[in-house]
Amino acid sequence: NQMLTWQRAGFHFRTVKNYMNDPSGPMYYKGWYHLFYQHNPNYAYWGDISWGHAVSRDLLNWFHLPVAVKPDRWYDIYGVWTGSITVMPDDGRVVMLYTGGTKEKYQIMSVAMAADPSDPLLVEWVKYDEVNPVLRPPPGIGLTDFRDPNPIWYNTTDSTWQLVIGSKNDSLQHTGIAMVYTTKDFINLTLLPGVLHSVDHVGMWECVDLFPVASSGPLIGRGLDRSMMLADNVKHVLKASMNDEWHDYYAIGSYDVATHRWVPDDESVDVGIGMRIDWGKFYASRTFYDPVKERRVMWGYVGETDSGDADVAKGWASFQGIPRTVLFDVKTGTNVLTWPIEEVESLRMTRKDFSDIVVNKGSTVELHVGDANQLDIEAEFEMDKDALETAIEADIGYNCSSSGGAVSRGVLGPFGLFVLANQDLTELTATYFYVSRATDGSLHTHLCHDEMRSSKANDIVKRVVGGTFTVLDGELLSLRILVDHSIVESFAQGGRTSATSRVYPTEAIYERARVFLFNNATGATITAKAVKVWQMNSTSNQYYPFTSSN
Ligand code: FRU
Repeated sequence: NQMLTWQRAGFHFRTVKNYMNDPSGPMYYKGWYHLFYQHNPNYAYWGDISWGHAVSRDLLNWFHLPVAVKPDRWYDIYGVWTGSITVMPDDGRVVMLYTGGTKEKYQIMSVAMAADPSDPLLVEWVKYDEVNPVLRPPPGIGLTDFRDPNPIWYNTTDSTWQLVIGSKNDSLQHTGIAMVYTTKDFINLTLLPGVLHSVDHVGMWECVDLFPVASSGPLIGRGLDRSMMLADNVKHVLKASMNDEWHDYYAIGSYDVATHRWVPDDESVDVGIGMRIDWGKFYASRTFYDPVKERRVMWGYVGETDSGDADVAKGWASFQGIPRTVLFDVKTGTNVLTWPIEEVESLRMTRKDFSDIVVNKGSTVELHVGDANQLDIEAEFEMDKDALETAIEADIGYNCSSSGGAVSRGVLGPFGLFVLANQDLTELTATYFYVSRATDGSLHTHLCHDEMRSSKANDIVKRVVGGTFTVLDGELLSLRILVDHSIVESFAQGGRTSATSRVYPTEAIYERARVFLFNNATGATITAKAVKVWQMNSTSNQYYPFTSSN
């Protein structure tokens, strides 16, 4: 089936076949980037969860290795779930701590070790049967609410790690929580009193991560290793995946290693109620420090929004989102920037430039870019100044999700791009800005993805998603969009916010996929100051030459 074949990404991380969800244990080790992932090696749907394993020299081209660990012990028979990998500073052992599911589906933690730490590929893993399981939920924590251990800080003075585990407490207010454990060896783990942080009414926290970012001073622009937790001019980002709604949230604050408590800078922007890492289909993200380029890199997985039957027909399911560098945004001081790693630019091929294209109210302009299935697009927009200053719109409290999307016209939006569009614009995915003026006169700018017309198929979840981000005085609105067949990722204003969609066009595929600028604002002409469109090369994705199957 041509349509299903088309959906396979060309430059995103993908399995060779079958199902994938969370990224786990990402790291750089002896010359190779490693990524482990929640994997069903047998089918294109969730189940038999194992740790898939792949290695890369550049985070773009991948060799898939044999499955690292699979469910074959009483303590993980329901699945080898998400966890982390730590290289022990003293003796170089490589320790995997993972969540195992018992046959009752209870969640407990176990350890596996790399059989040969001198092997840069870390092909073989051995479960530590003598000690497993190493950890069960503490009193008061549900037996199925205890998962995704992640080390956050290594204390060099007493050689202990602190690690976080996500959970919830329904005897409180459906409270999402993160607990902190301390350990020297990942075998004996001690729960520290209290919790790292908790937020009421948001439910189970999965895949908790806490990492340092440089907020001022000489380290600006660099990612920080976890040993830099206590450095000067550092803030701490807490991130958790909300299992109730399947979205990743974060907040910026500070972590006190002595009390092991984290507090947000602004209580109204807390984890689960404030900022999203991404407004679309993006979940279970996790970061690692890349010592080669001194940066913090984030992975998050992008699941399917078509039917399970379609996934089985395709023989695979899910991508990992493009890896992103994460930095504190020193210009706004209130958000992080997530941005495709610079290596992505090495995939750029033919480039088409467009400049000063005026897009009148209620019009579209086609951008003739040639093949439009794998693209990297950068666009800058200017709104006519009079309109921006004078346009009055009652404060309608614009919200991407409850709006009518790209076809619902307001005074100062929507405007942006249609990608994966057919010629008559009956099938398209819209990435757009919407500017609204509040009654106090302030402007709010939204980045939205409208999937409502992304496919003529009827077995697909389609939504309008998005949210606001900060635009500073004098800034043009800027947008970067990666199009890779059935995945579209948009980054606004250098990565202040982002939105990811899975889309399944039926007509706008292969040579019938097109790109347009559009402006549906009733009160403003939009000028696309500069639009650059690159066709993107594909990356390799195969089994490691000496391992014929997984
Ligand atoms: C998040 C998650 C984790 C769990 C894993 C199971 O997507 O539910 O909490 O460890 O996936 O595959």
